[in-house]
Amino acid sequence: MTELEKANQYREQNRVDEGEKPVFHVTPPVGWMNDPNGFSVFQGTVHLFYQHHPYSEEWGPMHWGHCTTKDFVKWKELPAVLAPDQRYDAAGCFSGSAIETEEGHALLYTGVMEREREDGSKEVVQHQCLAVGDGVHYKKVSENPVIPAGQLPQGFSTEDFRDPKIWREQGTYYLAAGNKNEKQNGQVVLFASEDLRNWRYVSVLADNRGKYGSMWECPDFFPLGNKYVLVVSPQDMQSDGAEFHNGNQAAALIGEYDREHGHLLEEQVISLDYGTDFYAPQTMETEDGRRIMIAWMQSWDMNIKPAGQRWNGMMTIPRELTLRDGRLYQQPVREIEHYRTEPVAYVDREISGRCELPGIRGRVLDLTIELQEGDYREFIVSFAGNERYHTSFRYVRDTQTIEFDRTYSGITRDVVCQRSMRIKKAEKTLKLRLIFDRFSVELFVNDGVQTFTSTFYTPLEAEDIVLECDKKAIINVEKYSISVEDDRCG
Ligand code: FRU
Repeated sequence: MTELEKANQYREQNRVDEGEKPVFHVTPPVGWMNDPNGFSVFQGTVHLFYQHHPYSEEWGPMHWGHCTTKDFVKWKELPAVLAPDQRYDAAGCFSGSAIETEEGHALLYTGVMEREREDGSKEVVQHQCLAVGDGVHYKKVSENPVIPAGQLPQGFSTEDFRDPKIWREQGTYYLAAGNKNEKQNGQVVLFASEDLRNWRYVSVLADNRGKYGSMWECPDFFPLGNKYVLVVSPQDMQSDGAEFHNGNQAAALIGEYDREHGHLLEEQVISLDYGTDFYAPQTMETEDGRRIMIAWMQSWDMNIKPAGQRWNGMMTIPRELTLRDGRLYQQPVREIEHYRTEPVAYVDREISGRCELPGIRGRVLDLTIELQEGDYREFIVSFAGNERYHTSFRYVRDTQTIEFDRTYSGITRDVVCQRSMRIKKAEKTLKLRLIFDRFSVELFVNDGVQTFTSTFYTPLEAEDIVLECDKKAIINVEKYSISVEDDRCG
């Protein structure tokens, strides 16, 4: 039996009951999941792969899990497609991307290899590899690795050279990968090829100049509106003002693309999410021209999964990206609206003190609260609640901050439970759209100009939603349950 057959057999024999998992967010059938990989359209279907270790709930030798969707809400699980079974990827098939080509669906991934130096010490080598398939089965090509680490310019790290993101421009393939320069600063390197097998080094697309963490993982590069966006996931960031927190995070560099020199002329660098659980986002373009982003809804430093839970890791809801007036907006994919049921709405409702509104409760919801007016200074929405548990967002009007608190969500680990976000673009009204799927909340502020994503594994019977206000607030509420039982998108 091959390594891949073994992994797929293990998954079949050990799969976790769907009832224990989120309803419309991608999770592994069993075991560990991290970064989204190979998010792409192939033969009219959207494919998503992911970093996967089926055999335990911990990170381990990386495989690629696989699922497909027609509408970003209902996902179909398929067998895993890559296992670390070659000399050049024996230490793992790390992150990468995919593209539709004349020869099939091409996956570009990082093969990780360990080898011994002459003095007997161990060295890690990361290089880029290719596998081609028909949407179900994929074959690693004989030319692997197609970009050996030795092809990097002198001084660039061969140990940190990973996560290729591929695209095509006028018949030429381009690939952006994370890397480190001689100063140990993160950078994104650009390569080009005509045939996916022979690649030439082009340039450093951007580098962190010692400012944004260390290594830059999981780059993605694409046009949006009239600009270009480079998404990176920096490691080891230090908090600096309200934009970035400590540790790993996801950033977007927005600017102009100097194509001649293969260089991004950055104009602004922003955080892609202010929550506790958002990393390694990847995007794709749909056939109708939308740029959709999905991310790993977890963080490396915080493992809050309850003991005994045999799956670990979720993806975010796929989000539509737009750039308007120089600002990046994220909105849940519009297809989620086809799965809305049980609507409940309140218009111009006055809130003062604590209140529960009839019909507003649950753990799988699309809930929008619009704060219209009033003399309130603080407004709290608390959810996943009962007499024992609750998690909340508190809006503090004076300071224009939103404070998240999951201290009482049932967490038994010593991890970050409170984090706040400064509202960057104050509007007359504050619109909070919250997407709940059992163990997560994704908050979209004012049509997605800022987002806040976090997980909590509160027992599912905690379903209360409580609104609280220190004085008086006039609000509109719109709530839908989300149900994926029927196929509503055909
Ligand atoms: C990001 C990352 C990638 C790497 C993968 C390994 O979360 O560290 O850089 O390819 O995870 O699983």
